Amino acid sequence: MSENTAKSDLPSLETLVTLCKRRGFIFASSDIYGGYAGFFDFGPLGSELKKNIKDAWWKAMVHERDEIVGLDSSIIMHPEIWAASGHIDGFNDPMVDCKESKKRYRADQLFFSPVSVDGNVIAYVSVEESGTMQAEAEEKAAEIKRKQAVQGSLDPIILKDYTEAKPEEYDQVPSPATGKPGSLTPPRQFNLMFETRVGPLADAAAKSYLRPETAQGIFQNFKNVVDTGRVKIPFGIAQIGKAFRNEITPRNFIFRSREFEQMEIEYFIDPDEETWPRVYREWIDTCKNWLVSIGIPADMVSEDVHPQDKLSHYSKGTTDLMFTFPFGTQELWGIACRGNFDLTQHQKHSGKSMEFFDESRKEKYIPHVVEPSLGVDRTVLAVLTAAYTEDEIPNDKGKPEKRILLKFHPRIAPFKAAVFPLLKNKPELVEVARTLYKQLQKRWNIAWDVSGAIGRRYRRQDEIGTPFGITVDFDTVEKDNAVTIRDRDTTTQVRIPLTEVEAWLAERIDG
Ligand code: GAP
Repeated sequence: MSENTAKSDLPSLETLVTLCKRRGFIFASSDIYGGYAGFFDFGPLGSELKKNIKDAWWKAMVHERDEIVGLDSSIIMHPEIWAASGHIDGFNDPMVDCKESKKRYRADQLFFSPVSVDGNVIAYVSVEESGTMQAEAEEKAAEIKRKQAVQGSLDPIILKDYTEAKPEEYDQVPSPATGKPGSLTPPRQFNLMFETRVGPLADAAAKSYLRPETAQGIFQNFKNVVDTGRVKIPFGIAQIGKAFRNEITPRNFIFRSREFEQMEIEYFIDPDEETWPRVYREWIDTCKNWLVSIGIPADMVSEDVHPQDKLSHYSKGTTDLMFTFPFGTQELWGIACRGNFDLTQHQKHSGKSMEFFDESRKEKYIPHVVEPSLGVDRTVLAVLTAAYTEDEIPNDKGKPEKRILLKFHPRIAPFKAAVFPLLKNKPELVEVARTLYKQLQKRWNIAWDVSGAIGRRYRRQDEIGTPFGITVDFDTVEKDNAVTIRDRDTTTQVRIPLTEVEAWLAERIDG
């Protein structure tokens, strides 16, 4: 396999959405009913890809580390948890409606020029919110600067977001939908948690929530793990699971959806002031290295350090790992130093001590925490973006033909290899191929394909990212007891004895 490097030619989001549907990776949820905004289903190949990503993360973060243990907490938890964590009061997005078009926007993603440019106030919606290409948003900002230059204004036009608008400005900002002012409502807060009811009575006491993050399941189990897990500071609790957010404007395919999965770690550390900066940096590097280990090119990932004045009061630092998605560079993984805020809050609300007795220091304290929080679905989208490649290779007649391939790292590819008998009507070939297929299937997910010319079969596998194509031909049964293994990326072929195929693959898949 070739090493993945950043590509200058990213696929469009539409290209990925179409490929995902065509080849059974991802479907719109409730497709036969016209879809359901913000919800997606992972098909036969998508569910394999997603599972492989989660398994790779779990292996690297839990199995291969002595000080991290796993957890699988419930999705619906005691509602007081969300009061303690601040989600009931504060997990809001500001929302604005256009009364004319009935379109809805996140007010903090709607930007406007408080001074008029050429007699008009300019407004546009951010890249993330509009789903437009970054270039379009940049063009809009450049246009504002050009107009400002023409105006000869010495004051730079500072764009404000709509949450900062003064009441007298609401009517002046044009709606991004109609281009005309006067139809936007004032911003209002909208809580992103999905509500539900628990038990047969539909009264206020039955009100509960679908978790908007997996993290609180970890915090509320802190004592359980400490009391049963023989853990010592520093240690981490990892969890993979569904999270739900009633996003105002779900966008960009699976990038921002209403039901998604998270892979989160709460890493509990000594509260002294020297520890967190070191652990924080170590986690940023660990997360970046893990992305590379699943085939994401290092140069498609950058760090966005949140400015001190934008951090919540309890936070000491947050860095987002950003990825170059088809629609612009956006957050993939957040690494946050949350101090002891969450445990302290749960101690206060539950009345149970969240203190940890540190044997080495002979003292009790509430540990601080570094939290690397990654979305599974965003990782799937990042992996698809990085893997999508178009090239040209000779077809069966030797003529160059366009090919689409997904250069997945073998570790996460849905199928690790495909086995083909050269001809499907030659029982002696089919028998050997079938035996090899069954042998390999015991260890990995392997594809079997007997239909069509061998070149066509290779291409079908290229398009779904199968790294190796194994062909059983006449030489296998008549001469050398060996098979041809073709590399998806380079199309080069090697001859490997049947008895060595499994070890050959293991080195490349699991090694
Ligand atoms: N416990 C911290 C937390 O949940 P977050 O930044 O809100 O932090 C963490 O979310 C990660 O979860 C994000 O970096 C992203 O990968 C993923 N994520 C958040 N909201 C999402 C959504 N609506 N759709 C898909 N993934 C999302």
